[in-house]
Amino acid sequence: MNNYHQYDIIVVGAGGAGLMSALYASKKASTAVLSKLYPTRSHTGTAQGGVGAALGNIEEDHPEWHTFDTVKGSDYLGDQDAIEFMCSKAVPIVYELEHMGLPFSRTPDGTIAQRPFGGHTNNITGMPVPRACYSADRTGHMILQTLYQQCIKQNVRFYDEFQVLDVLIENGVTAGVVAIELATGELHVFHAKAVIFATGGHGRVWEITSNAYTYSGDGVAITLRRGIPAEDMEFFQFHPTGIYKMGILITEGVRGEGGVLINDEGERFMNTYAPTVKDLASRDIVSRAMYLEMRDGRGINGKRYMYLDMRPETVNKYAAEDGRKRPDGSPYIVTGEEMLSKLPDIVDFARTYLGVDPVTQPMPVQPTAHYAMGGIPTDMYGRVVIDAENTVLPGMYAAGEVGCVSAHGANRLGTNSLLDILVFGKYAGLDAVEYSHKTGFETLPAEPLEFTQQQLEELRSSKGDERASDIGEEMKSVMNDYVGVFRTEDGMSKAVEKVRQLKERFKQVQLGDTSRIFNTELISNWELGNLLDLAEVTAVSALARKESRGAHAREDFPKRDDENWMSHTLVWMRDGKVELDYKPVVITKFEPMERVY
Ligand code: FUM
Repeated sequence: MNNYHQYDIIVVGAGGAGLMSALYASKKASTAVLSKLYPTRSHTGTAQGGVGAALGNIEEDHPEWHTFDTVKGSDYLGDQDAIEFMCSKAVPIVYELEHMGLPFSRTPDGTIAQRPFGGHTNNITGMPVPRACYSADRTGHMILQTLYQQCIKQNVRFYDEFQVLDVLIENGVTAGVVAIELATGELHVFHAKAVIFATGGHGRVWEITSNAYTYSGDGVAITLRRGIPAEDMEFFQFHPTGIYKMGILITEGVRGEGGVLINDEGERFMNTYAPTVKDLASRDIVSRAMYLEMRDGRGINGKRYMYLDMRPETVNKYAAEDGRKRPDGSPYIVTGEEMLSKLPDIVDFARTYLGVDPVTQPMPVQPTAHYAMGGIPTDMYGRVVIDAENTVLPGMYAAGEVGCVSAHGANRLGTNSLLDILVFGKYAGLDAVEYSHKTGFETLPAEPLEFTQQQLEELRSSKGDERASDIGEEMKSVMNDYVGVFRTEDGMSKAVEKVRQLKERFKQVQLGDTSRIFNTELISNWELGNLLDLAEVTAVSALARKESRGAHAREDFPKRDDENWMSHTLVWMRDGKVELDYKPVVITKFEPMERVY
């Protein structure tokens, strides 16, 4: 067979989770990484504020506090065994990255610098604790570069600009993937003992998002088409501070360094919604507070944005009001130079995109679709599970945002995504090695390319006068309006209906470019098909969950309902129909309580 390749382990995606798993897999098994991008352009590179680990370099901290904060932040939907695993591995994994050469920012005495982030607290006082280990506001960029260099050193084989379109499963066992080589348009079969999906999220379903254009939900869409469910798709996080109208991320690190959110009356409104931690409440709470302020007419100039203010005079005023101190006990007073050195990209983004200098002017921000808590269901070792009994699909793994362990439950704490990609990427890589040593290559299906060719043929041969861009815009707009920060039965029903209509209209999109070489139109139409599938399963899962929890806030069911809804949603697409099931949440130490910040 032409274009046939064989590796013990295929990793799909070259962000932090993909590179971490490839690094570990490649130490003991033949490993290749397939990425639709050049690896260093992966979305991990946009992560800014830090990676969470209870190093305690600035103040007392403990992995147990990190664990509890993550459980509480998840609105008790996170699986506590997975959360404990992740938080207990955080400290050693950060030191591991430091030893690989990651250039963390430093405290005056040379240890890794840490800043406060939303929902991370001292469990005794309830006050914010500096737990985010950072590299200025480029932490994801540094992780990506460090891991890529390690993978190159380790001779990991990279197939750059290879878009994976299908996963091959034969006799109930994973056998490889099919990918299109973008430069030639040729299909390739990668035969593997284990496949690790690390393809990231799907924020491009929404209109205002911090996510890269490449975040089109490929991994979840591919596995849904192969009969694998997705978990907890209704929980999608809106980060409070995206640049107004553009969604580009302004890190929570701004608030960690003392920045505050201000309404049209010049008020620091988070005092009302989270009296103890204020602007450093968890993201679901802050985003909702912003919406409520805007709804009550206190958006800036009556519009749908708020100010994020990191001007030194504002930071110093509120730091004094909060009694914030430096580690040596002196009052917390910042200068413009300090803000610039800790948040250089933010200053640059605000100047470039907003024409605002954040050292002297406040920044207009609005909540932006940021992170998928849901994804392909896995256990703690990245093994994909396919039903409510957690039956493992042999040889199939998922790690990072595409997976749902579930370490984030209904709402992820900031900094835990970088932690997630490192920890679950590493352990998926290690487990895949162990699995590959115990097993042979599964036979490939008789016609491995058939399903992919069929999908591409549908896109190539479709006739009609619909435009993909119109369909994409309408999907994003309906999802923003009805499956965003606040939701209702009526709105979500409209969204389901509209997305289904859009899926029908999508069949009438005619391809303008029929060439083979770098046919970006073909790929972006295929990605739009993925986004439509994900929009549908998200809206259906959300409509079914009749409670409010974490990022899923229903106006018609405003309370969390532990009696009926302490469960994870599983969603399948079978013969074009969406089916739901539920599985219990793992509770080990922490019984659900009301969340107070
Ligand atoms: O605000 C931020 O820097 C984002 C971090 C995260 O999503 O964990």
